[in-house]
Amino acid sequence: METARKILITGGAGFIGSHVVRLFVNSYPNYTIFNLDTLTYAGNLENLRDVESKPNYQFLKADITDAAALEDFFAKYGFDGVIHLAAESHVDRSIHGPTQFAQTNVIGTVNLLNVAKNYWAHNPAVNGVKNRFYHVSTDEVYGSLGDEGLFTEETPYDPRSPYSASKASSDHFVRAFYHTYKLPVVISNCSNNYGSYHFPEKLIPLAIHNIKNNFPIPVYGKGENVRDWLFVEDHARAIDVIFHKGVNGETYNIGGHNEWKNIDLIYLLCKIMDTKLGRPEGTSAKLIAFVKDRAGHDLRYAINSSKLQRELGWVPSLQFEEGLEKTVEWYLSNQDWLHHVTSGDYLKYYETQYHQR
Ligand code: NAD
Ligand code: TYD
Repeated sequence: METARKILITGGAGFIGSHVVRLFVNSYPNYTIFNLDTLTYAGNLENLRDVESKPNYQFLKADITDAAALEDFFAKYGFDGVIHLAAESHVDRSIHGPTQFAQTNVIGTVNLLNVAKNYWAHNPAVNGVKNRFYHVSTDEVYGSLGDEGLFTEETPYDPRSPYSASKASSDHFVRAFYHTYKLPVVISNCSNNYGSYHFPEKLIPLAIHNIKNNFPIPVYGKGENVRDWLFVEDHARAIDVIFHKGVNGETYNIGGHNEWKNIDLIYLLCKIMDTKLGRPEGTSAKLIAFVKDRAGHDLRYAINSSKLQRELGWVPSLQFEEGLEKTVEWYLSNQDWLHHVTSGDYLKYYETQYHQR
């Protein structure tokens, strides 16, 4: 039996966070998993319906920029580990409103670091295990690649969007707390994720939604930008491995060795959707609409994850075609979820289901 640990996961009601919470709640019955989330538009407790009544799961509603709330929760529950995912995560939103990204991703992260540092200062092993602060970050901090090369852990930071600048800044603060205060930190930088519970403002779920409803599929510029896609459950497994086995002060890159030009990905998705919806081949592709490019659009991201594979033994489990097919099937059979998260109905769900427990 694993040691009884108390782990704080921030942003657990979001896309990746909900997969991490689910994995930890199901894999470690002896841990108590506290999901702290302020429930922005991107956070939906409905993402965790299947684990919310488990005895080792608890939801805490709070904003990571609220230091007093974080202090209270540390004092009350005695967390020995933090897995920090709460963030503003959408590049297009960061272009329209950068301030919120600085507020949540930078100030929120500094708050959380500070509270953990103060709480752990006199107690290096709260529940008889070594404390750990795990910061979940993105490969976008490394900037944009040309046609060749991969991001390694040594690639210099060169963020180019307000989103990636805020994540880069938060990474710097995490390393500063390691060097200055000896806070036991670990960081990972992951490539683009896809899978279930992905909010339908990001490319893959947006395209699935639009194809299903015969709306245009907006492809920025000429669709030539390249992303390295990883199935979200593989990211959650990597986070589990790094949280338990990673070395303090180290950074681990996570990626799928799975580069796709946006336009090729959209054609593949259209083909899968035609089959699933029983449409003649080529029908969905007619919905493709090339639109104005994103400002400062990074050309290519691609990750070298050999350090994680070599040192901690993690490997991605799914081929992209298989993962994309699973994802399409999930969206088509969870149309209610899609309706709830885009209409605000999840708030009603939260009020009626959660508070009455
Ligand atoms: P998401 O937008 O789906 O979820 C973010 C969650 O954080 C939501 O539940 C939201 O309510 C919560 N949140 C936002 N502001 C908060 C605040 N001030 N206080 C408390 N909670 C708050 O994001 P995601 O795609 O699941 O990404 C999770 C993390 O992983 C982020 O840190 C992101 O930078 C990183 N990441 C994402 C990807 C990706 O492809 N999505 C890739 C690599 C890294
Ligand atoms: P996105 O899912 O927003 O992730 P990120 O910007 O963090 O990589 O976008 C993935 C790629 O798809 C990116 O190159 C921008 C592009 N894109 C479109 O072409 N159309 C869209 O409607 C969206 C949301 C993104």
